Formats: sequence, structure tokens, C-alpha cells
Amino acid sequence: MRTPIVAGNWKMNKTVAESVEFVRQIKTALPPATQLETALAGQPIALTAMLEAAQGSPLKIAAENCYYQTSGPYTGETSPTALYAAGIHHVILGHSERRQLFHEDDQLINRKIKAAIAAGICPIVCCDETMGRLITSQRVEWVVARILDDLKGLTAQQAEQVTIAYEPTWAIGSGESADPSQAEEGCYLIRQTLGHMFNETVARQTRILYGGSITPDNIKQMMAKPDIDGVLVGGASLDPRTFLELVNFND
Ligand code: G3P
Repeated sequence: MRTPIVAGNWKMNKTVAESVEFVRQIKTALPPATQLETALAGQPIALTAMLEAAQGSPLKIAAENCYYQTSGPYTGETSPTALYAAGIHHVILGHSERRQLFHEDDQLINRKIKAAIAAGICPIVCCDETMGRLITSQRVEWVVARILDDLKGLTAQQAEQVTIAYEPTWAIGSGESADPSQAEEGCYLIRQTLGHMFNETVARQTRILYGGSITPDNIKQMMAKPDIDGVLVGGASLDPRTFLELVNFND
């Protein structure tokens, strides 16, 4: 049984004070992590304050990126070992915005995944998709290639530390989520690829999330799909009441 996850990706949308106030508002209203895992990814400047505010609650605090080197002359980058030492044990890697805006390729993302795992951090690896590939049914080749390239060289044991987020780019920030069946197809394809790449245990145990315009109105349908174990939410995670509605999607 894979424990479901509701995770927020705040991107660059909250100040430190807003981040801390948000955590304080929701921390006592979250279910136990054994029932549903909850996480929030914030800007580097806010993470330690978020972590302190979340103490005593099941809420996990995640980074939105990290580098593949652990120290050295890399201005502006964030060390995975420094994140771990600060208590941050989850990181989003390979988000489509990092790939498109900051030109991150599979080789760099693969290096970051390995460095995060080596530092003890669990990566949430994003696999993007476009409407064009969906229509021309090139999705299979694309999704399989992303998983193979991003997770290249990992052992099965290392792969067990990874969570995948399937994020159709047309659905990110658009208000138009993928149809639950489309989302399930993508997540199923990722799970099958993991099985062929590693083994059935990795395929069975890996949590695969959907991201792209998730709201309280569509989360229940998404979470009902057999290969969707959670959601990675941008816009709808920015409001504490809405985030709690997402967390309580089964109510
Ligand atoms: O990482 C999740 C994010 O890209 C989805 O954003 O605003 O479509 O929920 P949004």
C-alpha cells in the first residue's frame, strides 16, 4: 500500500513571513503521516523557518531544487548536503520550469538526483508532457525516455528513494488539468517503465504524483486512479484553506 501524498510547490510565490504564517495556520489540522503525507516546497530562504514552524506536525518541508555538487565555487546554487544538515529531506528536481526556463537537461537532472540521494534526500522527480505528444501519441517515447535518462545509473535501492511527478505542461498554471484518465495513463506508463528499468518492487512501491491545475474540485477523481498516489500542487496550494481542502479530499 502506497501512502498518498498531497504536496504543494510554492515556487517563488511566498515571502519567509508568509511561508511561516501559512505553516502555523495549517500544522494542527493535518492528518497523521501514516494516513496521508503532506509536504510544502518553498524558496531556499524560507526553508529553515518553515521547518521550525512545522515542528511537532506531520508536515514535510521540501526544497524546489538543489545542485549536484555538495560544496565549492557554484554561486547561487544550493548544496544537497547543506539541505540535509538543515533538516530538509525532500527536494523537487527536474520541474518543467527548470527544464524550460533554466535549460536543465536530463544529464544535469540525473546528476542532481544522484547527489540528492547520496546526501540522504528523497527526490521528487518531475516528468513533463506536452499536448502535442499526447495528440500524436508520441507520449510513450517521451515519458519512457525521460524516466530512463533521469534515473540512469541508479540502483534499485536508490530508485526506491524516488517519487515521480507526472506534469503535463499544458496543465501547469492553466486552470485546465489533464483528464483523470489521461493522467492515469501517464502514471501507469511511468510505473511500467520503472518495472522494466529496475524491478517489480520499485514499480509497486514508487509513489507517482500528478501535477497540473489540481484543485479541490478535481483531486478526488485523480486520487481515485490506481496509479496516481498523490498530487503536486502549485496555485491551489498557496491558500491555507484551499490546501486543507486538498488534504481532506476524501471528506
Ligand atoms: O509542480 C506543480 C506545479 O507545476 C503545478 O502548478 O499551478 O498548475 O497547480 P499548478
